[in-house]
Amino acid sequence: MNVVARAPGRVNLIGDHTDYTGGLVLPMAIDRWTTIRGRSGDGEVHLRSRAEPAAVRFGLPVDDPPVPPWGRYVAAVAAELGDSARGIDGTVESTVPIGAGLSSSAALEVATALALGFDGDQLALAQLCQRAEHRAVGVPCGIMDQLTAAAGVAGAALAIDCTSLAITPVPLPDDVEVVVVHSGEERALATSAYAERTAQCAAAEQIVGPLRLASVSALAAIDDARLRRRARHVVTENERVRAMVAALADGDGVEAGRLMVASHASLRDDFEVSTPALDVLVTRLGAVPGVLGARLTGAGFGGCAVALARPGALTEGWVVRPVGAASLA
Ligand code: GLA
Repeated sequence: MNVVARAPGRVNLIGDHTDYTGGLVLPMAIDRWTTIRGRSGDGEVHLRSRAEPAAVRFGLPVDDPPVPPWGRYVAAVAAELGDSARGIDGTVESTVPIGAGLSSSAALEVATALALGFDGDQLALAQLCQRAEHRAVGVPCGIMDQLTAAAGVAGAALAIDCTSLAITPVPLPDDVEVVVVHSGEERALATSAYAERTAQCAAAEQIVGPLRLASVSALAAIDDARLRRRARHVVTENERVRAMVAALADGDGVEAGRLMVASHASLRDDFEVSTPALDVLVTRLGAVPGVLGARLTGAGFGGCAVALARPGALTEGWVVRPVGAASLA
C-alpha cells in the first residue's frame, strides 16, 4: 500500500514556556511540511532523507535506538506505537527548517506516526508524539508543538489551554501577516537549559501551587529571586495570551504587537531564554515601519523570531500562513 503522510511545522505567536505548567499558548501550524512517502509493509522501517546523509533502518518491534540521530525520533514513535506499528520503505522530505524553533522534530514525529499506521484522534496523536519526543531526546517538553502539528486549522492560530487541552481557533485579521526571521544562531543549550527551566517552574509550584492559577502578588511567597522571576514570566505570559486572543478577535493588530514585545521582554529578563542575537533581531524588526511587534518564538536559546506586520512591511524572512492539520493520504 502506498502511503503519503505529512505534518506541518509551527510558529508560536505568544505563550512560550507556559505549556508544561498547563498554561495557555497561541501557536499556528505553518505552510512548511514534513512529508513521508513510501510503501507500507511488514517488519521493517527503512527511511531515507534528502536532508540527512544516512538512512534509518530498523526492524519492528524496535529494540535499540538506531543511528543516525534523526532515526531516534522515528524509532521513538515506532516504540510508542508498539504492536500497532507497521513497517515502511520510503523517503522523508521537509520544508521545515531544522533547529530553527519551528518544531521540525514534532513535524517528523507526527508524520512518522501517521505513516506507521497510527489510528486515533488528533489529541491521542499529539500525546503519543510528545511521549516519543521525551523518549528520543529526554527533553521534558510540553504538548504545544505536537498538538499544533496534529490539530492545525487553516487560517487560524490555536488558543490551547494546556490543562483541559481545549483548542479554540483564533482567525488572524486580514490586515496583518506573520513573518519568521532566523537570528542566524542555531539553538544551543536548548536541552539542558529547557530541563532546568521546567524544574524551576515545578519548584515554584511547590511554593505557590499551580502557576496557571497564581496571581503575580502571590509570587511574593517565593523567597528565591530567580525562581520568583521564572514564575512571574509564566503568570504574566498566560495573561498576555488571553489579551492577545482578545486583541486578534477585535482586529487590533497594534495591541497584539505590543503584547508580543512585552512577551519578548519577559522571556529575556525574567525567564532568561533569549540571546543577544535574538534581542538585536527583535529590536531591529520592531523598528521597521509597519511591524506591529516581534518576539523570540519557541524554546529560545537561538533560532527564530516571529513578527506581526502589515502585509509587505518586512522584506526579509518568510511570510508564514496558518494551515490545517497533519494528514495521511
Ligand atoms: C519547545 C517545547 C514546547 C514549549 C516551547 C516553549 O518548543 O517543545 O513544548 O515548551 O519549547 O514554549
